[in-house]
Amino acid sequence: MSVMSPHDCRIHVPIPIRSQLRADVARGLCQTQKALPPRYFYDARGSQLFEQICQQPEYYLTRTERAILQRHAADILDIVEECSVVELGSGSAVKTRLLFDESVRRGYHLHYVPIDISESMLRKTAQRLQAEYAQMRIEGLVADYLHGLAALPAASRRLVLFLGSNLGNFTPAEQERFFTQLVAVLQRGDCLVLGLDLRKPVEILEAAYNDRAGVTAAFNLNLLRRLNRELRANFDLTTFSHLAFYNRQLHQIEMHLRSEIAQEVAIADLGMRVPFRTGETIHTEISRKFDAEEVRTQLHAYGLQECAAWTDERAWFLVALFRYAGWKESHER
Ligand code: AVI
Repeated sequence: MSVMSPHDCRIHVPIPIRSQLRADVARGLCQTQKALPPRYFYDARGSQLFEQICQQPEYYLTRTERAILQRHAADILDIVEECSVVELGSGSAVKTRLLFDESVRRGYHLHYVPIDISESMLRKTAQRLQAEYAQMRIEGLVADYLHGLAALPAASRRLVLFLGSNLGNFTPAEQERFFTQLVAVLQRGDCLVLGLDLRKPVEILEAAYNDRAGVTAAFNLNLLRRLNRELRANFDLTTFSHLAFYNRQLHQIEMHLRSEIAQEVAIADLGMRVPFRTGETIHTEISRKFDAEEVRTQLHAYGLQECAAWTDERAWFLVALFRYAGWKESHER
């Protein structure tokens, strides 16, 4: 489905997200360790809560990455020059504006392909950008990353942005699938800018996912509210609590929803009854923390060669720019 918004930007919805939700919930809540994919956090309310998380004093990721991009927007454009900007998980695109402003200063054409799982967020962002940058051509996709990549509109040269350490929400296997799919759609010379949260002391990491205002807890619990609304489930949100801790072996924050009592939850649309023991959890997210050298080596194997990388003064976050050299070419070397 493709529709024109009032501001003349195109928003495309390649696949129905609802039918995936049903299958993922049915599968995820039958496992020994119950689990739900993190992409379902982002309904309209969840997307707003995520924007609020980004403003919490403990959640250093967004402001640290923004400062790096502010300092190096010109350096990035010196390397990539004029090209179409594809953003995976575009959200409010606040940080992306730094690149747009620098592009405008250089007189570049603006072609933006935001990809986001939240239709409401995508529409709002596209309309705001269209109002701010009248000359920008916007072709938005409401999709998860893999379906979004598969449905990319044609462009001669692309810069793919994958910011906010969104990569950290993938398991290593999902990460491999993602890069395989990414390089399948890239052409030689296209660029990728990755924003990655780096490893650091556990107290700082755990505080970022347990903010004192309780916004991350509300974000996590909102997933159950969504299942109540969209699948006619009867989760009692007062009987579940937010749990987030750092797994030192796997270098990842793990987020769970913990049932405080023994109970059975009904999901009417799936004809399911789900039992919970006291203390049993639903695993809702991982947020992996990276080692810069490891990532460089991994991406090199996909033909993505690092051109430049920048960090902050505390070395908490990394913004790295890769150029696609061609998979075959890089493997012949
Ligand atoms: C979107 N993603 C990179 C965030 C993260 O840090 O993993 C999502 C998030 N979950 C809890 N707080 C933020």
